[in-house]
Amino acid sequence: MVGRALAGRFAELGHQVVIGTRDPQITLARSEVDALGTPPYTEWQQDHPDIGLLTLPAAGAYADLLVNATNGAASIAALSAAAIGDRNGLVVMDVANPLDFSTGAALPSLTVVNTDSLAEQIQRTFPNARVVKTLNTVNAAVMVDPGRVPGQHTVFVAGEDTDAKHIVTALLGEIGWPPNSVVDLGGLVAARGTEMYLPLWVATMRSLGTADFNITITRA
Ligand SMILES: NC(=O)c1ccc[n+]([C@@H]2O[C@H](COP(=O)([O-])OP(=O)(O)OC[C@H]3O[C@@H](n4cnc5c(N)ncnc54)[C@H](OP(=O)(O)O)[C@@H]3O)[C@@H](O)[C@H]2O)c1
Repeated sequence: MVGRALAGRFAELGHQVVIGTRDPQITLARSEVDALGTPPYTEWQQDHPDIGLLTLPAAGAYADLLVNATNGAASIAALSAAAIGDRNGLVVMDVANPLDFSTGAALPSLTVVNTDSLAEQIQRTFPNARVVKTLNTVNAAVMVDPGRVPGQHTVFVAGEDTDAKHIVTALLGEIGWPPNSVVDLGGLVAARGTEMYLPLWVATMRSLGTADFNITITRA
């Protein structure tokens, strides 16, 4: 959902975009709508013929900027397969959440929490990358079309590299997040907070019956 939403929006804005997948043949062979109602990849591809589908290593080698939109529990494995450790200075826009729905609890738990975060794990594993955590606090549709939620609302960036955060903030601007809607939380340690927001996001979504919502930070 997230990969397609961001890829489609960036391509619409004129960027050259590819999607990396573990096995392109398997991804193309899927013909079922998934459990969340997402149509098969081939159906989406028909509307986005310019967006290539590559293996993870090929996508990792291609990217000037890489978006991590993989299942949080699998992100390190997927980014390892994409060989991002070979790409000195690569900006990694990390939108993933380390959610664990497997326990059957009323709300998902997190596979990493409190004293660490997925974004920090990614940064430690790939020290040459410039990881910026962003957009993980909003639904995929809102990410690429913030106007779905009325009024001004907030998206966060966190990361160690100021230039990388500027690059990501500029991209956020292109997809509809004006500069004063972006709150820079400082270093990547702040990703602990944005990732730990997810149980509240899920509870809010259930209460409101929609994923078209967001939080607003109001400055004094
Ligand atoms: N859905 C939302 O609205 C939303 C909003 C904010 C943040 N997020 C976060 O963004 C990420 C993407 O969410 P999503 O809903 O689009 O998809 P998702 O179902 O969480 O998974 C995205 C992709 O991760 C890859 N993946 C899964 N298991 C893997 C494994 N063991 N090894 C390598 N890759 C694996 C798969 O890619 P292939 O099958 O193509 O290889 C899969 O399509 C997640 O971390 C999610 O928590 C989602």
